[in-house]
Amino acid sequence: MMIVVGAQKGGVGKSTLGLNLTVWRAHQPGHSKVLLIDTDAQGSGQLWVSIRTRQGIEPKISCVIGQAGTIVDAIRALQGSFDDIVIDTKGDESTELGEVLEIADKVVTPLRPAMFDIATLGYMEKLVKSKRMINPKLQALVLANYAPSNKGNTKVPRMRRTVAEQYKGYRMLETAIVNRSLYDLCGERGKGVMELPKGTPGFAKACEEIEQLAQEVWA
Ligand SMILES: Nc1ncnc2c1ncn2[C@@H]1O[C@H](COP(=O)(O)OP(=O)(O)O)[C@@H](O)[C@H]1O
Ligand SMILES: [Mg+2]
Repeated sequence: MMIVVGAQKGGVGKSTLGLNLTVWRAHQPGHSKVLLIDTDAQGSGQLWVSIRTRQGIEPKISCVIGQAGTIVDAIRALQGSFDDIVIDTKGDESTELGEVLEIADKVVTPLRPAMFDIATLGYMEKLVKSKRMINPKLQALVLANYAPSNKGNTKVPRMRRTVAEQYKGYRMLETAIVNRSLYDLCGERGKGVMELPKGTPGFAKACEEIEQLAQEVWA
């Protein structure tokens, strides 16, 4: 399965969720061969893997940089050696994002459940629609990241309604990822949430939501 984590907007959690999906998959029995591709040469993926490698964290995860013009050929050359490929893209209207959508199975777009973030889905929906002419299998999934932790909050249900009514090219995932400070630790420690110390505040809940997210993404 080839999964692109992509959004027009920066800071929405693409890298954080991309690396967590990669780690989750790498821990699945019999499915250890997962490749992380970072389309940003100065990107978080490379940095995260270098920390991980330096710390000797298992399972080892390979990460390569993909650049516009050559990324599709590079992926095709590597594809046979991996069960799954997760592609972390930069924000903005990057050329790399457009190119990988021509071969990916799914694009996952994290967004804050807030109006200015949700509005950027219009750009992504148009892009996905144009890429489906070349790649009809492409599925587009959006999820709420930085969701409020209080159960009664209406932001996520409202986002769900807006997506269903206005962005029909996308399907909203059931999972919402809550705003938790432990997600910041993943980047700096070269780990996914499931690899953090069990005593970290929010550990059990974060593991549960990443598990649920991954199950939905790989369904
Ligand atoms: N659910 C979350 N809760 C708290 N912090 C988060 C969450 N998701 C991401 N972050 C933090 O927000 C910042 C931006 O996330 P990042 O994954 O780098 O976004 P992007 O790749 O879309 O630019 C990082 O510091 C990251 O640790
Ligand atoms: Mg990023």
